[in-house]
Amino acid sequence: MATDADASSPQVFSAESYFATQPPPPTLESDTARVREFVQRQVHAGSKVVLVTSGGTTVPLELNVVRFLDNFSAGTRGATSAEYFLKAGYAVIFMHRQFSLQPFSRHYSHSTHPFLDFLDIEDASSAEIAVRPGERPQLLRVLAAYKEVQRAGKLLTLTFVTVNDYLWLLRAVSQEMGVLGRSGLYYLAAAVSDFFLPRQKMSEHKIQSGKGSLHIEMDQVPKILKPLVAEWTREGFIVSFKLETDERLLVPKARQALARYGHQVVVGNDLHRRKFEVVFVSPKPGSASRDEVDRDYEESWLRIDLEKDPQKEIEDDIVGELLQRHERWIQSGVTR
Ligand code: PMT
Repeated sequence: MATDADASSPQVFSAESYFATQPPPPTLESDTARVREFVQRQVHAGSKVVLVTSGGTTVPLELNVVRFLDNFSAGTRGATSAEYFLKAGYAVIFMHRQFSLQPFSRHYSHSTHPFLDFLDIEDASSAEIAVRPGERPQLLRVLAAYKEVQRAGKLLTLTFVTVNDYLWLLRAVSQEMGVLGRSGLYYLAAAVSDFFLPRQKMSEHKIQSGKGSLHIEMDQVPKILKPLVAEWTREGFIVSFKLETDERLLVPKARQALARYGHQVVVGNDLHRRKFEVVFVSPKPGSASRDEVDRDYEESWLRIDLEKDPQKEIEDDIVGELLQRHERWIQSGVTR
């Protein structure tokens, strides 16, 4: 890493050179086997499958990691959306940052709705515990949906921590999902680090303080959407997300991503408005090849009114819209 004066200069990694030089996570093989088995089962059942990525990736600064860079994402978008996909009958591969929110259990997160607060001790001697009456209807709804998903084997959960875990896992999962053809949907809501420290530049031990300042030069993470669209999953319906803090950049950045990668939809969201407003940006139906930069794009805004309906979750409508678009994609038989 660039804390040493003679550290090598930054390198531009393509996806290919990234995977040729960075080591796979130790669980990759077993995770891939689980995905293969899950996908095969869904193919036999004739189910549509969605990969939902969720939460933020870390960038470790040391090999014996003490410090790392992280980002704000709690995994709300991904966990909530996964539930709506399951409700719509999709099988879900939920690839999430370890300890970020998960479908169903998210309703009882330790900070917003701690489960110990709605339990009462009825009789300590016989260990009888009861759920407070006011909490029962919601718990019953969540529990019933969770049990049904488990019974039907419709949810596969995978975890990542670092950006390296994420990239290897995303490649493996999307390659396994290739057999689904157009029935595969990719919902890439994870917040992926843009910069990383290649293993070859990392300090082995904890970086020592005392020099007054720390200079770290990171390399850019390869844009993985490119091989995802062009090589790993040639027929899947791919939805990426774009987060900005300046709302005026949302549509131009989303168009840029579509022109660059040639996929189907970018969902743009502003950091502070993302719970009640998003924009769908996509190529205009019938316009020329996805590779053309000057192709026509269209956008449609989705807004909900949380003052009128505080229980409403915008993911309900995001997923609803995407279900229709995915179905049209399947029917159209268009290839990229
Ligand atoms: O989890 P929450 O707290 O609910 O927050 C949800 C969210 C705001 C994080 C989510 O809705 C969101 O916007 N996620 C994407 C954040 C983002 O802008 O990521 P990005 O600019 O790094 O990447 C844009 C797209 O390119 C993403 O779909 C990503 O999958 C993809 N990408 C990113 C990096 C990389 N090296 N290769 C990629 O292909």
